Amino acid sequence: MAKPTFSTHSGMVDILPDETPKWQKLEQIIHETARTFNFEEIRTPIMEQTELIARGVGELTDIVSKEMFAFERGDDHYVLRPECTAPVVRAFVEHHLNQRGGTQNLYYIGPMFRAEHPQKGRQRQFHQFGAEILGADDPIADVDMIAFMMAIYDRVGITNTTLKINSVGDPESRKAYKKALKDYFRPKLEELSEISQERFETNPMRILDSKEEEDQPLIEDAPVITDFFNEETAAHYAKVKQHLDALEIDYKEDPHLVRGLDYYTRTAFELISPDLGAQDALGGGGRYDLLVEEVGGQPTPAVGYAAGMERLLMACKELDIDLSEPKSVDIYIVTIGDNARSWALKHLTKLRKVGISATMDYIGRSVKAQMKDADRENARYSVIVGDNELQEGQFTLRNMKESEENALNFEEIVSKVRKSSKRK
Ligand code: HAM
Repeated sequence: MAKPTFSTHSGMVDILPDETPKWQKLEQIIHETARTFNFEEIRTPIMEQTELIARGVGELTDIVSKEMFAFERGDDHYVLRPECTAPVVRAFVEHHLNQRGGTQNLYYIGPMFRAEHPQKGRQRQFHQFGAEILGADDPIADVDMIAFMMAIYDRVGITNTTLKINSVGDPESRKAYKKALKDYFRPKLEELSEISQERFETNPMRILDSKEEEDQPLIEDAPVITDFFNEETAAHYAKVKQHLDALEIDYKEDPHLVRGLDYYTRTAFELISPDLGAQDALGGGGRYDLLVEEVGGQPTPAVGYAAGMERLLMACKELDIDLSEPKSVDIYIVTIGDNARSWALKHLTKLRKVGISATMDYIGRSVKAQMKDADRENARYSVIVGDNELQEGQFTLRNMKESEENALNFEEIVSKVRKSSKRK
């Protein structure tokens, strides 16, 4: 085939009609699960002010320093959102959502953008579902967030996952920990990979997230943050584990788990799949008690998660889980001649109004070609309409699977097709 004149940007993917049914089903599962958890949907623009993301996610993170799709127009600095927590917090502050009372339990579904090097499981435009609880400090909220995330994988049928948890501490314990990490790595600096040497200066905790082979033995023996907690942080973390145990949610403590975004305080978690290869994180999240204040709001503790939808669907593929239902249409009207075509157009509307899905040929194909098209569309019924049928008001309704035919008037067709779609 000839090379097309235009194509998508690298790392940006068309979701084609054969794929959209899976996406719709997944979105339906997310909405239904959110309803059972009593979360409300929020939709924010895909562009935000660059300053919000830089401050929210952190100037020194890879996301902000290397992966932003940012541009200017006049005096405005735009960025395609790389994630949705900072935007949700912005909306919470901007619209005084705290005044609605109680905690704000919000969820979202949508595209995110990171100019990363595209590879399996890593795109430049990808989709996340996620949720945030704003206004709750209690470890119950952390665990309900984890339960919400896991419930979606459960409903999809992905169960062979590993939940990793940690607490990344409060600012005070983190300060002491960063110092201890630097003291530990300083004499070994030469042995660290180039990227970890860079992180030693900018963000030493991120060394722990290194995938470079030479860093692994050094990371293994590095100090752990749990040794630096004050009483309150230690108690919060202990409660998180206690509630997870009570819900019988399995987890693995990973004292070196750090996340790629700077806003986290205390609880951090990631859900890992063995079916994904190198990019094995299905989702992740944690607590970000300082972010609301950071973007101009009142101090508000908060916790949330987000998960990659492409990665979830990749795991489905590996596990042979098919979310899509085969496409089908209730009735295909096969037409002979112009009068029949006009009649069909009018009667398609009548069928659709009562909830019957219906279609016809738009390009004047022969009866044989229309019948073939009805098969391709997986029509449950076809009805042939020509001048004779119009005169007599009687039509042949054909059950395509059972090859059974009935002569019926239009009202009888409606009632038969409706009855059989109810039984579906
Ligand atoms: P994150 O860990 O950066 O967290 O992203 C969450 C998930 O999005 C990842 O686990 C992964 O499944 C998916 N993801 C991230 N980048 C890509 C990519 N380039 N291609 C495909 N999938 C990707 C956050 O975004 C936080 N906002 C989560 C959160 C919410 N924390 C608190 N509330």
